[in-house]
Amino acid sequence: MKFIHLSDLHIGKSNNREKSAIIVDWILNNKDKHQSELVIISGDVVDDGKAWQFDQAKEQLTRMRENGFTVLACPGNHDYGLGGFQESRLSQANFFSLISGVKEYPHLKVINGQAFILLDSMAKEIESIELWGAQGNLGEEQLQKLDQMLEDMAENPAVENVFVVLHHHPFDFLYYHGLRDQADLKGVISQRLNQPPRVNGLLFGHKHIENRFNDPEENKEELFGIDLIYASGQTVERDQEGKMVIPVINAEEKTIERYLIQ
Ligand SMILES: [Fe+2]
Repeated sequence: MKFIHLSDLHIGKSNNREKSAIIVDWILNNKDKHQSELVIISGDVVDDGKAWQFDQAKEQLTRMRENGFTVLACPGNHDYGLGGFQESRLSQANFFSLISGVKEYPHLKVINGQAFILLDSMAKEIESIELWGAQGNLGEEQLQKLDQMLEDMAENPAVENVFVVLHHHPFDFLYYHGLRDQADLKGVISQRLNQPPRVNGLLFGHKHIENRFNDPEENKEELFGIDLIYASGQTVERDQEGKMVIPVINAEEKTIERYLIQ
């Protein structure tokens, strides 16, 4: 099974709405190439958490959903507020009603034996009174639920692989930018001694830098027993040749095909 991993569309900023429409055009017109029916967006769908931005984003998500795609999105710091740091409950409510349809995190969706668990790395952060910084915080409650969910997945013979998706980068140690409880997350998702991996794929965005952390072809170190650890770049960003990258992930093989589009 293959799926598409988009991130950080920041709709509402410059011409990201138009670029997002080009990305969705490509997804709708190239099913034979990408062979995916699932699109995952790892947060920062919009730029400032404003209602008009969510409306514009919803247009693109609806185009995919009406064409048979399942679109799963987890919230980023920019979805929940102005400038990516002034969180508001109104933005949170709009993200739920216009984008995700998901109220409770961790959110589990199993498709063809592949379990996708979406996290809200703003869940606890939104309670912070700081008016600066772009950190994330999953919170103890969400991590405990994730722990239980991974336990259940391990005992479920119908589940072949488990993918965890969140917005914040768990390997970004910049103090104003990172995931505050990244150490606790790693404790929950790490493979236990003499046990199979708890998590097979970990996907995120936030930094706008594409990176595969544990590529076996590059002999990169295996981390936490997780086969695929991948930061999608900012999908709407063009490279030096004016191309945008659409990563298509093969869930069983843990490989990534990168499609470059104009
Ligand atoms: Fe972000």
